[in-house]
Amino acid sequence: MKDTASAITTCPDRELADLLQIAAKAALTAGNGIRELYGRTHTVTMKGTIDLVTEADLASEAAILAALTTDTPEIPVLAEESAGDHTVPGDGCIWIVDPLDGTTNFAHSFPFFAVSIALVDNGLPVAAVVYDPLRDELFLASLGGSSWLGEHRLQVSATEDLINALIGTGSPYDIHRHLDEVIADTEALLPQVRDLRIAGAAALNLASVACGRLDAYYEIGLKPWDTAAGMLLVSEAGGRVTDFQGKTFTFNRPILASNGLLHQQLTKALG
Ligand code: IPD
Ligand code: CA
Ligand code: CA
Repeated sequence: MKDTASAITTCPDRELADLLQIAAKAALTAGNGIRELYGRTHTVTMKGTIDLVTEADLASEAAILAALTTDTPEIPVLAEESAGDHTVPGDGCIWIVDPLDGTTNFAHSFPFFAVSIALVDNGLPVAAVVYDPLRDELFLASLGGSSWLGEHRLQVSATEDLINALIGTGSPYDIHRHLDEVIADTEALLPQVRDLRIAGAAALNLASVACGRLDAYYEIGLKPWDTAAGMLLVSEAGGRVTDFQGKTFTFNRPILASNGLLHQQLTKALG
């Protein structure tokens, strides 16, 4: 299988290595299916006024569920399109899956989306895979085993000052309920940074922080499947992940992920 050797061999234990391999295989299969559907006419249904689901979200989720339930029948799966109102992972070990993160981009043929799979143990991500099918980039991490892009060990950026920083963000689907907050954060931050990017895929934004393409990323209103894999990629690449106040990040709360060096300046601006 593609470029997983370093991430697998640096896993702190054999069982986790096997699980990371299983997640990588599932993400590659699902991502290959998404790539084949990219740029074609899509079957779109609406979950909300601006919240789309395409045939690719459903096909990707079906492929991942089939793979994970075959390989690890003992581990439950929380996956976006079948989660319903269930957004709290609970105790124990669970797979958390975003079958297509960046659906709006995919539906518009805007080339920035990914598959995200995390293994979460009592609320803590321990293995992570984010696969960008268009760039064929496979991001992997395990708790204590570093973050990897293929065979390249990831390291967050060394940017020390906000004015030199490129920062990612995003807006929730219920933006009308949070408009004041989102605008206040933008207003506070935009004059202090090199620029902001709203690229439209949370998991890929977090992977971008892990590999130093972005210096930081923040967003409100995200669900566990948006953040579970990406947050481990960032922390294992030497970055920091908290809420906007700098407190421990927990699922379904605002997320601030940075290279660590910028964290205090960002909590001051956002907090
Ligand atoms: C969305 C994307 C987007 C973010 C939204 C997410 P989806 O996920 O990550 O960047 O701003 O809040 O819900 O729906 O494309 O999987
Ligand atoms: Ca998502
Ligand atoms: Ca999704």
